Amino acid sequence: MEDSWPEFSVNDALGWLLYPRMVAEFPDHVWIATEGDEVIARAFSLPFALHTEARGGVLPANGWDAVLMWAFSDQRRGVEPDTVSAIEISVATDRQGEGLSARMLAAMRESVRAAGFAELVAPVRPSGKPAEPDTPMAEYAYRTREDGLPYDPWLRVHVRAGAVIDSVAPLSMTVSGSLAQWREWTGLPFDTAGPVQVPGALVPVHCEPERGYAVYVEPNVWVRHPLG
Ligand SMILES: CC(C)(COP(=O)(O)OP(=O)(O)OC[C@H]1O[C@@H](n2cnc3c(N)ncnc32)[C@H](O)[C@@H]1OP(=O)(O)O)[C@@H](O)C(=O)NCCC(=O)NCCS
Repeated sequence: MEDSWPEFSVNDALGWLLYPRMVAEFPDHVWIATEGDEVIARAFSLPFALHTEARGGVLPANGWDAVLMWAFSDQRRGVEPDTVSAIEISVATDRQGEGLSARMLAAMRESVRAAGFAELVAPVRPSGKPAEPDTPMAEYAYRTREDGLPYDPWLRVHVRAGAVIDSVAPLSMTVSGSLAQWREWTGLPFDTAGPVQVPGALVPVHCEPERGYAVYVEPNVWVRHPLG
């Protein structure tokens, strides 16, 4: 399936390193939806231990990155997982807007429940946030429509499915790169110090021309799906 992610976002170092290993090492946590021979949606999740003494059941500030680190580290050390986190749900660009994401999420919830887990969590990347990169995530995440559902379309899908918004993960994903890399990823000049608005980014990227790099720290929104 064609990737619909902005190019910079696949350069999170942990994702770059561990994403390809998910299919090989956690095949029970990968779903695809097909129509004929065509893949029209895909979903990844990872099991990890959240209720340990050190982690205390608290969803981590470094959301998505933390789940990748914990899941692979728990697996290597033989730590029994007690929670599953969604890592990605995406729909082919020409099939978006048809309700497929809700069906993928329902399939993930059902499969995780059937595997005996009491909770599915997700570090959600709100799909409407790139339209207002300067709004603090803490404000955006809790904004609701008149009907009480989240303002953000993707958060709305999660809440409709039964999720509760838990917290903001302020540094869910970090992408750092040289100015040359950022220019290649975005086509933007990256020659001025300070915040840069990049299409597809949830918050501005910080550019440090004098030090030769720019860094993007992406906030996500933790949601919890009780499955009991
Ligand atoms: C976010 C994503 C998964 C949503 O999937 P989808 O199947 O297109 O969404 P749905 O058809 O189920 O619609 C969900 C809601 O978003 C709304 N929506 C759909 N496309 C929209 C758009 N372009 N702009 C605004 N709202 C939109 C729908 O109206 C619906 O809300 P409603 O039911 O309250 O009306 C999909 O856009 C996607 O794959 N994006 C790229 C990858 C990504 O960002 N994944 C999420 C992080 S893992």
